[in-house]
Amino acid sequence: MSGRHLLGVRDLGAEGIGEVLRLAETFEEVGRRPIPRVPALRGKTVVSAFFEDSTRTRLSFELAAKRLSADVSTFSSSSSSLNKGESLRDTVLTIEAMGVDAFVVRHACAGVPAQVAGWLSGDASVLNAGDGAHEHPTQALLDCFTLVRERRRRFGTVAAGEAVFAGLQVAIVGDIRHSRVARSCLFAFTALGASVTFVAPPTLLPPSLDGWPAEVSHDLDDVLPKCDVAYLLRLQNERMEGQYLPSLREYTATYGLTAERARLLGPSALVMHPGPIRRGVELAAEVADGPASLVTSQVASGVAVRMAVLYLLLGSGAPIGA
Ligand code: NCD
Repeated sequence: MSGRHLLGVRDLGAEGIGEVLRLAETFEEVGRRPIPRVPALRGKTVVSAFFEDSTRTRLSFELAAKRLSADVSTFSSSSSSLNKGESLRDTVLTIEAMGVDAFVVRHACAGVPAQVAGWLSGDASVLNAGDGAHEHPTQALLDCFTLVRERRRRFGTVAAGEAVFAGLQVAIVGDIRHSRVARSCLFAFTALGASVTFVAPPTLLPPSLDGWPAEVSHDLDDVLPKCDVAYLLRLQNERMEGQYLPSLREYTATYGLTAERARLLGPSALVMHPGPIRRGVELAAEVADGPASLVTSQVASGVAVRMAVLYLLLGSGAPIGA
């Protein structure tokens, strides 16, 4: 991984993604030890600065930093001086002045992590933990890691090297328009050789898909039998202005992975979702909890993958340690 920051998966390319995935395997082993901790980032300070709600991303970044022996501080925007009128820039520079090695930033506006990186005067790293509808690089990386590992576990060998997803058909289904996960996953999956089809009603697609290496379909029943992976997305109501759907019930009937519709999937097809899931809307509870589902495995992968990313950006390059 070159560069000081992780702002988007698009910047990594197949080589950078491969480097993260290989290192994450080592860190996954650390997670299984009785004391799941290595001294790799001892003396480093990581601040998680989340200006938008999060459960799994924030917790897993914080756990990852702790397992690498970094000091971790949590900034909570709802109880900060932002509420007293302080600007985002002043808030960031205040935190930087305390001596910080990495900012893990989530914000409702696209581009904020890049802006934070531009404001810093020292050499702290910025890790994008999700910015508006732009990118969510560590989600895509943990999804790649999960898929590689689960396919190896379930089906034996998978293609080696950088084209590890060669021939894989992935359907990303739902609210593509407002989803940073769709964007990051599209670039990561295709960088590793997969073909991606976006399945959504026209209103939930971006106004233009120029430069996006994706096929488009409006017919989920047609796509499901042909795909190896069905990746469902939540309707991102917090980013919707106006009416995008006639009704939630109609959305579920047409684009939800209901138990009945899941029978159209092939016997070895896998189901993914970044969470949080709205059970019964985009994904039926019995499918989310069924044997094809990788949902729990995705969450579990998050810690090892974020350890890898933190180590690559902040580590000295010295051995990871016992
Ligand atoms: C996603 C996000 O925040 O972009 N969740 C996550 O980080 N696991 C997707 C979502 O909120 O629907």
